[in-house]
Order: sequence, then C-alpha cells, then structure tokens
Amino acid sequence: MSLFRTKSVEQSIADTDEPEFRLKKSLSAVDLTVFGVGVVIGAGIFTLTGRAAHDVAGPAVVISFIVAAIACGLAAMCYAEFASTVPVSGSAYTFSYASLGELFAWIIGWDLILEMFLGASVVAQGWSAYLGTFLQQLGIVLPPEISYGGVVDLPAILLVLVLGGLMTLGIKESLRVNLVLVAVKLFIVLFVIIAGIMFINPANYSPFVPDSVPTESASGLTQPLLQFLSGLQPATFGVGGILAGAALVFFAYIGFDVVATTAEETKRPQRDLPIGIIASLIICTILYCAVAIVVTGMVPYSELNPSAALANAFAFHGQTWMATVIAAGAVAGLTTVVLTLMIGATRIIFAMSRDRLLPGALAKVHPRFRTPWVISILVTVIVAIVAGVTPIGVLEEMVNIGTLSAFVLVSIGVIVLRRKRPDLKRGFRVPWSPVLPILSALICTYLMLNLSVETWLRFLIWLALGFAIYFAYSRSHARVGTGASLDPTKPNVVSPPKE
Ligand code: ALA
Repeated sequence: MSLFRTKSVEQSIADTDEPEFRLKKSLSAVDLTVFGVGVVIGAGIFTLTGRAAHDVAGPAVVISFIVAAIACGLAAMCYAEFASTVPVSGSAYTFSYASLGELFAWIIGWDLILEMFLGASVVAQGWSAYLGTFLQQLGIVLPPEISYGGVVDLPAILLVLVLGGLMTLGIKESLRVNLVLVAVKLFIVLFVIIAGIMFINPANYSPFVPDSVPTESASGLTQPLLQFLSGLQPATFGVGGILAGAALVFFAYIGFDVVATTAEETKRPQRDLPIGIIASLIICTILYCAVAIVVTGMVPYSELNPSAALANAFAFHGQTWMATVIAAGAVAGLTTVVLTLMIGATRIIFAMSRDRLLPGALAKVHPRFRTPWVISILVTVIVAIVAGVTPIGVLEEMVNIGTLSAFVLVSIGVIVLRRKRPDLKRGFRVPWSPVLPILSALICTYLMLNLSVETWLRFLIWLALGFAIYFAYSRSHARVGTGASLDPTKPNVVSPPKE
C-alpha cells in the first residue's frame, strides 16, 4: 500500500458523473467572480488592517497588502491551472490526490479543514466585534463578559448556530441573496475609500515605515519563527514589520481558493474557473490597497482601533453616522463569509469521506433535505465552540498557516502533474512553469516563516494529529485501496450535498 498512490484524474471526474452525484452545472465566470469577492472580502479588511498597522507595520501596511497579494496571485494561477484540469469539487484536496498522492492529499485536506473551520470562527468573531460597534452607536451596550473579547462570545455563537441550521436544512444562499450581500459589502468598502479621502491628514503617513523597535510583546513564543531561528533581537515595525504584516493580512485574501470548490457546478470550468479565481483576486487587491492607504491616512497608526478599525476611523473624526453605516454593512457582509466557509468545510469533509479517508458514515445525506447533515452539525458545533471561547488573535495566524501550506503543496503539485500527465487538457496554464510555481511555493513558505513560533507549534500539533488519524484509519480504509463501491444501491452510500 503506497503512501503516494494517486486517484486518477479520470476516476475523480467519473465519480462526479454518476447520476447520483451529478451537480447542476449553472455557474458562469461572472457568478464565480461574485462568489469569490463574496468569500474573500470579510473580517480581514474590516479588522486586520487596523491591527497590522497598529501592531507591526504602520502606514506601510499597504506594502504588506501588496506582498500578500503577490503570494496569492502566484498561488491563484496554480489553483487556476489545476481547477481547469481537474474540474472536481474538493479543491486543492482533489488536485493533490491526482498529482502528489494520497498522503499529501490527506495533509492538504487536513490543512483545508483547519483553514475553513478556523476561518469561519475568526470571521464570526469579527462579525461580533462589528455588531458590538454597531449596537454601541445605537446606544446599546452588551455585557462585556458575553460579547466580543469577553469570556464567552455569545453573538458569535448565535450567528454560527443560525447559519449552521440554515446549512443543515439546505437553504443555499441563492445567488441573488449572495449578490445583494456582495453589493452591500462592495458599497461599504467603496464608501470607506471615497468618504475617507476627505479626512486624510498627510502627516499621518510619516513615518511611512516606522523605525524598527525592540519589543517585549513580540518575544519568546510570539515572535516570528524566522526571527527566532535567526537569533535577531525581537522587534516590530521596520521592514521586518512589513513582512510580518503581510503574513497577517494574508488572511484578508483567503477564500479565492474556495472558488475552486464550485468546479462541478460550473458551466465551462476550463475557461470560467481561471477567470473567476483571478478576477476576484485582482478586484480585492485594488480595494484592499485603497482602504489601507485611506485608513492609515485618517488616523495615526498608533491610534487605530485594532478590532474594528474601519468604523472607528470615522468615529475618530466625529462622523458617527458613517461609522454606524460601516458597522451595519460589515455585519451584513461578514455573514456570507462565515456561511461560505462553513459550507466549504462540509464540502471538503464530504469529499474526504466519499474517498473514505474519513468514515463514510459521516457523509450520510439526509433523505429529505439532501444535505450531509451529520457533517453539517459537526461543523456547526465545532465552529460555535471555537468562535465562542477561543482567545482572539491566535486564530488568524492558524488559518494563514493552514492555507499557506496548502498553497505550497498546490504549487508543487502543478509541476508534478505536468510531468506525470502532460497529455491532460489544461484550460489554463501557469506561464513560465516551473519558475512561477516554484516562486509561489518559496514566497508562501517565506510568509509562513514570518508567522509566530506559537502558531508553528500549534500547527505541528495539528499535523501530528492528522498523521495519527491517517495511519490509524484513513490509509487502510481509502477507497483507492479497497475499491469500495459508490453504487447508490449498495449500503453505506454517499450522495452529493445540496449546497
Ligand atoms: N478573506 C476572508 C476574510 O477576510 C476570510 O474574512
């Protein structure tokens, strides 16, 4: 039994062609771009811009956004090539099953679970932070113990339970609802940029790159791994701060890879997936850089609010009604991000259970709702607990490290699949391969090294747990090895989720 056995591209596609598993192919390139922008714009831009500028990068946070965008752009091209070659749900997990083999597929699936579970939890907390700001503007103050940053984040828990309920009942965010919420979000972001320009004070841009300062708060386990390994004195700001900021705001771009999970529902995946992935990334990059420039121009970076910076920048200038509008828009807009990431998590687990790397029983589909209800409930409960009681500030970095490691493996996978299967039709090809995929892997690794030592330790524990499950269970149960049937008339059968 090889650790590197692969599931052929043809087999992956054949699985989706079974009548029982066929999803409706209805999405166009524009739909995918809207979907992408809908998932990507979320807590990252609304909360992390402030934190990264305040804690590590100063006004140069815009450069952090550009560095993160370059890493994502390269990875996006690799995703686009894969998605146009293997148009199957399951995203990077499925791609790597076809190229790098089962062990890597398992690791990527495990990393994606981390990305989506924790991503949904972090954004739920961001939602709760903005809800608090919004209610405060209306004169309502929740007890601090049960709101954002308190002992239990009750609003975040309630949000997750409601969305989990919708997801389990199979109420798919219809494209129209999604479109409305994306429009609200875009409106708010454009509003921040345009209204904010009036309040820019050029003096706030200097120093643009604040001098590096030795710090107590970023030493020990909280310093970037690179700093720890190189033995440099712990410091924030300066060039190191820009890179640490890039590793943090990377979170704001996460989600374009989720577009690849819709491959089975896309009309012309070969053409539309690359367009959808790359277009959403370009739109978000432009908006993010503009927001970063405006917000750091409005408020001295040392006074930016690290949890709800966009709304508070307007409150800082006495524009409370503008702050209220932004907070309300953020509350509406972040909802779709949480829902989509939760659906993404169920899809990945569904794909892994369909392949029997996780128990097939998990993938049970509800006879009436046609949703994988067991997985949905599991995802909901876990996300609610994590969002409700985990300390803030450690979560984004975990999401980032999970996603970045998946990006590294996908980039390498592109090179491997080109060698192994040059014959496959590729709707999109990464230019200058293997140079760009290698560069992509290197930049993502470098960003990973800029994450804190404690994030690395947690990540290693996560991986160790993953390996334990793989060797104890998945390896011997995998359908690629046992040849178990997908036939719907046989027992223990799985069908596709309705979302
Ligand atoms: N990119 C998403 C966000 O910023 C996860 O919320």
